[in-house]
Amino acid sequence: MKAIVYTRYGSPDILQFKEVAKPTPTDDEVLIKVQAVSVNRSDWEGLRGKPLYARIGGLLKPRHHILGSDIAGRVEMAGRNIRQFQPGDEVFGDILGRNGGFAEYVCARERALALKPASMTFEEVAAIPQAAVIALQGIREKGQVQPGQQVLINGAGGGAGTFAVQLAKFYGAEVTGVDNTSKLDFLRSLGADHVIDYTQEDFTKNGNQYDLILDLVAHRSVFAYQRALRPNGRYFMVGGSVATIFQILLLGPWMRRTTGKNIRLLAVQPNPKDMVYITELYETGKVVPVIDRRYPLREVPEALRYLGEGHARGKLVITVDQNENT
Ligand SMILES: NC(=O)c1ccc[n+]([C@@H]2O[C@H](COP(=O)([O-])OP(=O)(O)OC[C@H]3O[C@@H](n4cnc5c(N)ncnc54)[C@H](OP(=O)(O)O)[C@@H]3O)[C@@H](O)[C@H]2O)c1
Repeated sequence: MKAIVYTRYGSPDILQFKEVAKPTPTDDEVLIKVQAVSVNRSDWEGLRGKPLYARIGGLLKPRHHILGSDIAGRVEMAGRNIRQFQPGDEVFGDILGRNGGFAEYVCARERALALKPASMTFEEVAAIPQAAVIALQGIREKGQVQPGQQVLINGAGGGAGTFAVQLAKFYGAEVTGVDNTSKLDFLRSLGADHVIDYTQEDFTKNGNQYDLILDLVAHRSVFAYQRALRPNGRYFMVGGSVATIFQILLLGPWMRRTTGKNIRLLAVQPNPKDMVYITELYETGKVVPVIDRRYPLREVPEALRYLGEGHARGKLVITVDQNENT
């Protein structure tokens, strides 16, 4: 099969579009013929090996040689212990940690997958797994957003952010989206009530305070975040710098005790139920996967470059058409 392969950390230039062995499913896996796979910042981080947490499992060289975790496709073969799926089923899921989605075929465990609703395309469901589940767990599970609350999404114009803005609005919050100058109108079009251009203004220094801050690109000190939270407010770091992770781990519990402000890391649990819930919201018109661009498999390097350079609005999706790969 054709795949996008890398054997060392680096820029998109080191990615190779090449022929590799088609994977064989174990008894606990299904083999999926990939139809679409979306690009996440975690792919960019896994390619670069930065921040340091992107090297978990492969300090000097990547452990897995094919990136791509948000897959959608048809089950081609099911291992003997598979109960929920059979060949021909249309599925989608998050295989972060194993990866391998930038390819014509990939193996996945049953618990990572859900059935694709007939009302959605493979591209649309491929946009959901990681980004929408981060947003749902940040806004609903951990954030427990209530109507009328002030919610700020930092990095609102990217994959997880575009879902988070829509979900926070859906749960009745007044939403502030933070991203660069070129994405502010886009954020308003998603429903953000207020926007902040991070190149012009620091949201932790303007005197405003929020009930919930969901931070997809954290790089500030915990004291800055504490300043931007209302009493009993919650802050969740999803991605960002290792220095901020350590500060939150070391100082977060103390800050909770002394100020009542809750500053934590959000450890997202991939969860098919959450993915299905997002498809239900889609079917009732409440949430839409925002797809900025589509690329063929051989152009994964261009897609990663576009994301890494900070142009992507919402999601980028790779459409895997085997006729184009010969
Ligand atoms: N915690 C967990 O369990 C978990 C699980 C999976 C993934 N993750 C992490 O979650 C993060 C998810 O990101 P994503 O996929 O939504 O990323 P994304 O699509 O790249 O979006 C990030 C957005 O943030 C913007 N941005 C960059 N620098 C900023 C700044 N200083 N202030 C405000 N906005 C800024 C980017 O815009 P520009 O660059 O264009 O300015 C972009 O629009 C990744 O870091 C990933 O590793 C965490």
